[in-house]
Amino acid sequence: MSFGFGKEFRVTVFGESHGPCVGVVVEGCPSGLKIDLEDIQRELDRRKPAGELATPRREADRVRVLSGLFNGHTDGGPLSMIVENEDVDSSWYEKNRYLPRPGHADYPAYIKYCGMNDYRGGGFFSGRMTAALVMGGGVAKKLLASAHVEVTARLVQVGRMKLPREGEGQTTGAAPPSDPAAEKLVEREILEAARDGDSVGGIVECTVLNLPAGVGEPYFDSIESMIAHAVFSIPGVKAIEFGAGFGLASMRGSEANDEFLIRGGVVETRTNNSGGILGGLSTGMPVVFRVGIKPTPSIRKAQKSVDLRAMEEATIVINGRHDPCIAVRAVPVVEAVAAICIADLMIRDGKIVRRQGRR
Ligand SMILES: Cc1cc2nc3c(=O)[nH]c(=O)nc-3n(C[C@H](O)[C@H](O)[C@H](O)COP(=O)(O)O)c2cc1C
Repeated sequence: MSFGFGKEFRVTVFGESHGPCVGVVVEGCPSGLKIDLEDIQRELDRRKPAGELATPRREADRVRVLSGLFNGHTDGGPLSMIVENEDVDSSWYEKNRYLPRPGHADYPAYIKYCGMNDYRGGGFFSGRMTAALVMGGGVAKKLLASAHVEVTARLVQVGRMKLPREGEGQTTGAAPPSDPAAEKLVEREILEAARDGDSVGGIVECTVLNLPAGVGEPYFDSIESMIAHAVFSIPGVKAIEFGAGFGLASMRGSEANDEFLIRGGVVETRTNNSGGILGGLSTGMPVVFRVGIKPTPSIRKAQKSVDLRAMEEATIVINGRHDPCIAVRAVPVVEAVAAICIADLMIRDGKIVRRQGRR
């Protein structure tokens, strides 16, 4: 089964979109880490749908800790957290149980689980499961903060609208100036699609700052492998590129190579086309990657599907509650999974102590 991820810092997610709750179990978090639940709550609130740009499903998403915290600190045992599902309406799914939504997981899940899958709201294939990733990532972020490592993500493209960002391949991790005019255009792009009964995709860029050089593993647990593995657990993600990514294919070596220099007694590189990773290990420059997210599959426009019981072609009209753009809500989720990967690799490298406390 594949609901768990990580070796030393391990998260296991559970729940379904319309079941009682969604939750995470974090194992391997050092004891003595101070966890302020408001910090975890802040991460959840960033993921929560809000306004016209998100699904009308409104969940309180209050984090509840079931185990692993004692006097506000991790106690060394599994740290389990849940959020309850309260605003659930399964009526559309009950009526359309045998009509798989194009672009969603309904059809392959029906086949794999022989029709026994929880089809309500996509079951455990739902974007709602990302609340669990965000809670686990919140713990990872606290752990990384103790080593001064910071993970941030932001939306750089929605549909055809690009938000201001640094030049391709020159990604140093510095935030670009915010541009309210561009943000308005993005909003318009989403609302126009939503009013047409349609949806749009987007790109999220994530940066890991202050990661010391030499963290990571070669081969199968390279930083790229770990991050890509975890990022593809986010529903709707279809692409990832590190540093200059696909752009490297059209560069010459002389352009692509990041030349070394010494700044303030520290080895750095002039450019960061490699996205802060060489040989699967951190170079000490910001780790930078971009995630391509598809348009939300559930749209109100009529589409062709099939009736799996009658085995005949059919038309599907989806009028459940859906996000017109997943990418907007995926920003804290991308941060969360990156934090989980980096925390795991840093513990494995001995860069984060396994126990904190008084003794
Ligand atoms: C935060 C978030 C919210 C999502 N909301 C919706 C939604 O409202 N409607 C929908 O059809 N898909 C939504 N998705 C995407 C689907 O869950 C996903 O496309 C589906 O499980 C198929 O998986 P795949 O796209 O990775 O192949 C959401 C994903 C995320 C990350």
